[in-house]
Amino acid sequence: MDPKALRQAFGTFVTGVTVITARDRDGTPRGMTANSFTSVSLDPPLLLVCVGKSAGSYPVFSTTESFAVNILHEGQTHISGTFASKSADKFQGISHDSVHTGAPVLTDSLTWFDCSLHQRVDAGDHVILIGQVQAFGTSTAAPLGFCRGAYASVKDPLPTGWLDTHGMVVSYLVETQRGVLLRDDGKGGFVLPRARRRRPEAQLLLEGSAGLQLFPETMFLYSVFDVADDDPGQLIYRARLAGDALPMDLPADLHVFDFDDIPYDAIPTNEMRSVLRRYARERSDRRFSIFVDSDDGGRVAILDGDTRSWAQHQNDIQ
Ligand SMILES: Cc1cc2nc3c(=O)[nH]c(=O)nc-3n(C[C@H](O)[C@H](O)[C@H](O)COP(=O)(O)O)c2cc1C
Repeated sequence: MDPKALRQAFGTFVTGVTVITARDRDGTPRGMTANSFTSVSLDPPLLLVCVGKSAGSYPVFSTTESFAVNILHEGQTHISGTFASKSADKFQGISHDSVHTGAPVLTDSLTWFDCSLHQRVDAGDHVILIGQVQAFGTSTAAPLGFCRGAYASVKDPLPTGWLDTHGMVVSYLVETQRGVLLRDDGKGGFVLPRARRRRPEAQLLLEGSAGLQLFPETMFLYSVFDVADDDPGQLIYRARLAGDALPMDLPADLHVFDFDDIPYDAIPTNEMRSVLRRYARERSDRRFSIFVDSDDGGRVAILDGDTRSWAQHQNDIQ
């Protein structure tokens, strides 16, 4: 059988492109481009990839007990090129993270699967790695395709029922020494102020005003409303104003309301009313939760203690 012709015939099967990753014995991240990915089973959750025995990273994949599969999006042909090369440092400038097993998960990808090794099967000039998915994440980006040895673009309209969260409205529930900051909506109602921008030093630029300085450690996700297909979705952060003074140039439509005095009847939506009620309740014992809207009425997760920095968290789990 002519191997070249066989390779060409195999190549007519359209696939996506993945970068499979693992750590060698020293903990150094290793990875290679692979399109031999296949989903295998939902229960238990299994997938497979085939690694050529001539690949430089074969010794790592033939011994590792965990690996990650990172499916690339359409903007990542250069990443595919890097990881298909023999470059000594493929991870240079590539942001990655440990999620569950410790295998490097690329921060930017279409979808990732973090797997423990389920089974290794010897198969000719390749070894099949069957992984059990321990954690995964996905996005709505368009996938990178591959066919007949070339990258292909895939028409990828979001299927109906998927949420496209571009243009999400970002609002802030800012607690000041005297109460909560609300914006007069000009129609007799009060809404949470929106902000388009946030500076790294926890400075918030509310629409139409100069910056508000917040305590960075108090700023955290509070509510996500992202259910209806036809509305852009709302992301609400909570935060506390640093210091006691509101800035002099606070726009006239911004008002501070004591928590016992929030004009709930003038808050135009149920969602915002419930966000404010929950916050007013939770702030007394400083035990906050995160609410995410869903088709079944929404879900709340209670934060056990204060938030802490990612660096601190990494230190604590090591
Ligand atoms: C789109 C694409 C798909 C690939 N798929 C695989 C694959 O599934 N298995 C494999 O062993 N090599 C595959 N390769 C080739 C490897 O990426 C290539 O041999 C790489 O040099 C391996 O890196 P390493 O030698 O540093 O381990 C693919 C290459 C490309 C460009």
